Amino acid sequence: MIFDTHAHYDDSAFDEDRDVLLTSLHEQGVGMLVNVGADMESSACSVELAEQYPFIYGAVGVHPDGVGELNEEKLCRLREYLALPKIVAVGEIGLDYYWDKEQHDLQKEWFVRQFRLAAETGMPVIIHSREAAADTLDIVKEELQPGMHVVMHCYSYSLEQAREYLKMGLYFGIGGVLTFKNARKLKEVVEELPMERILLETDCPYLAPVPFRGKRNDSGKLTYVVHEISALKGIPEEEVIRITEENARRFYRIGKERR
Ligand code: NI
Repeated sequence: MIFDTHAHYDDSAFDEDRDVLLTSLHEQGVGMLVNVGADMESSACSVELAEQYPFIYGAVGVHPDGVGELNEEKLCRLREYLALPKIVAVGEIGLDYYWDKEQHDLQKEWFVRQFRLAAETGMPVIIHSREAAADTLDIVKEELQPGMHVVMHCYSYSLEQAREYLKMGLYFGIGGVLTFKNARKLKEVVEELPMERILLETDCPYLAPVPFRGKRNDSGKLTYVVHEISALKGIPEEEVIRITEENARRFYRIGKERR
């Protein structure tokens, strides 16, 4: 079944029908998802959602736009969350020079500190990186430890950068953007990526695939992304679903028995 490796169901866009939507996902072919934190509040929501729904796991971390709120005490709280059985990753963390809400030095400092928290606790890392290609690559090169699982969420950089990350063993989060008309560069990247390194992700409520572009996204709409990957790779859609589910379980270290 489809594994959505990156969703934000704590978002207020789901306030009116969250439970109805989540409980309908199974019928739509979605077997499991990871709710990803972007600040302290949404990280706490990831913990709650993971406690509430058997098929939801959680990631906790603070997005570069919000690192101004971080301090020692909050880093400790993230560490406590990471000890919970259904919290499976640190994220999303990284650098965002597009929105540029925090100073670059502060973004880098907390990216590194949260990356190290993942290394210490043996957790995978979900990286958000926008308009910060060079600095992100430098930090990943510096901080990556052997055996660590790291995904470039919503991959948006060049094929050359993708090759660098491939060499380092990273995974690539692929979502609705792949169906956009102007996604030529991303399609080239996906054509070259080994299937074993692709993770399906919505980033919902954002980045809905065509024909829902601009509307609210949800995990059920990943079928459109599956269709696109299947066409690009020349393999059946069921194979895309099977392989990406295996990848996601390997990445987050979620065994079949935990389902
Ligand atoms: Ni996200």
